[in-house]
Amino acid sequence: MVAERGLREGAWFRSAVFYEIPVRSFYDSNGDGIGDLSGVTAKLDYLSELGVGAIWLLPFFRSAWRDEGYDIVDHYEIDPSLGTIEDLDRLVAEAHARGIRVLGDLVTNHVSIDHRWFQEARKDRASPYRNWFLWSDSGKEFSRTRVIFRDLEPSNWAWDDAAGQYYFHRFYATQPDLNYDEPAVRAEMFRVARFWLGHGLDGFRCDAVPYLFKREGTRCQSLPEVHQFFRELRAILDAEFPGTVLVAEANQSVPETVQYFGDGREFPMVMHFPLMPNLYLALAEQDPRRLRHVLQATLPAPPGCGWAYFLRNHDEVTLEQVSDDEREMFLWIYGRHPKTVLNGGVRRRLAPMLDGEDGNVVLMTALILSLPGAPFLYYGDEIGMGDRLDLPDRDGVRTPMQWTGEANAGFSTLPPERLLRPPVEDAPYAPAARNVADQRTRPDSLFHRIQELIRVRSAHVEEFGSEGLLAEDVRVPGVFAFWREQAPARVLCLYNLSRAAVSGSIPLSPELRAAPVPIAGEVALERSESTLRYSLLGRRFAWVRFVRPVLGAPNAPSAVSGSESG
Ligand code: NOJ
Ligand code: CA
Repeated sequence: MVAERGLREGAWFRSAVFYEIPVRSFYDSNGDGIGDLSGVTAKLDYLSELGVGAIWLLPFFRSAWRDEGYDIVDHYEIDPSLGTIEDLDRLVAEAHARGIRVLGDLVTNHVSIDHRWFQEARKDRASPYRNWFLWSDSGKEFSRTRVIFRDLEPSNWAWDDAAGQYYFHRFYATQPDLNYDEPAVRAEMFRVARFWLGHGLDGFRCDAVPYLFKREGTRCQSLPEVHQFFRELRAILDAEFPGTVLVAEANQSVPETVQYFGDGREFPMVMHFPLMPNLYLALAEQDPRRLRHVLQATLPAPPGCGWAYFLRNHDEVTLEQVSDDEREMFLWIYGRHPKTVLNGGVRRRLAPMLDGEDGNVVLMTALILSLPGAPFLYYGDEIGMGDRLDLPDRDGVRTPMQWTGEANAGFSTLPPERLLRPPVEDAPYAPAARNVADQRTRPDSLFHRIQELIRVRSAHVEEFGSEGLLAEDVRVPGVFAFWREQAPARVLCLYNLSRAAVSGSIPLSPELRAAPVPIAGEVALERSESTLRYSLLGRRFAWVRFVRPVLGAPNAPSAVSGSESG
């Protein structure tokens, strides 16, 4: 497809703003109460208006729907509740026509127990599919492997009567893990990837990547074989679908997470799990020091790569990457409601976590929009949607997108009680209080503030899409500051995490004495000969741009000297 060439040039993924869509929750185009692919197509103009450059769709393959599509029954079919392959083709074409790329979700680690492969495997030891899964007579192997859904599953092994053996599952017992030591499994997954890239997808968010291979005596995560597998997958993309991207979901420690870039040969993008909980902790502590430490340890990404930042997604806020003390503090601040905690994390939406204050949402969103890499926004967070703690598992953060103030949120033509999941009812977050239609009409709405952030980021994509960051040690409590640069311009990003108003000054090197231009946020600036004085109200931010005069250009001031520092 011709359109794809322009869309896939260079490190496009560092310039784009990504937007995550659980398809079943976004928009129901045919009035059956379930969001669908044509519903996403119908809302592409909305996404364009917001400024989104890429969407990530949660799995849309035929599924048993016991884990929001992460339990696949047939990898080569669209689930009938979501539409047809023609609907997907139309969605991709319409998205591309608007300059929006489309990522699928590649679920490699496991399938549904209802998948034909597992059905064949369990009933016949001689079946070629038997070795596609991991079996045991005792259920005692791989005992160092952590149980991820620890509130929901007692073990990683489940007994199967039909098979007469235990099978291994890293997630729900309804999701048996595939055996990646079986070459046919690896070949099949490459085939799956090729099939959907052939339908024009611009890449995949890759689910649960660390867990594919198991080795006795290890924690069965991030083994060298895993990296080898994804390097092979990446090589296929580079050779056959140039410019497509893979985003790793690897919820690991800093050193393990960084390895998924594979020095530029593995994942072009890796979700920044280690930073995410620290963003909330730093805000609560009104102290950015922990952000500096994590970023110091993880930046820059290898050349050609970029971190994928996120505040929220369709799961709980996971807290595996913080210490016990930090977790306790996190839960004390953000997990007070008795129904909040799931699997040790917090199953809440962005706005309720941030006290429902638009200013906090804008501050945090601006922060992830300005770090080197790309931001992933979660549907509905741009209008400050709330959650439903009365729904099970993670369903409470997957309620219908609130398009209008009607009781069914304008998500479907059906009344609320007939929808797949009921919309939020809690007054401050109910559709009547927070919806797209209303926020579109109000210039000061959260929607417009997020839209403006994206617009400014896109207008200065050379600076914001560049590879690194220059830290600025401002020594003002609560203030986090850094520069993003692409000569001849530099953007100073200033965040006041504290609730109090602050002011401070930043020394300006001679080449930066050109007039500073605030391009986003709220700040009072005063420039003297060699410093920039700034004042920020509590929980406010600013992006301030400088353009260095070009040496030798007409009218350029003569005093341009000094080298880059920071
Ligand atoms: C991670 C996904 O984000 C989550 O929603 C899912 O339940 C597990 N992987 C299992 O696929
Ligand atoms: Ca539908």
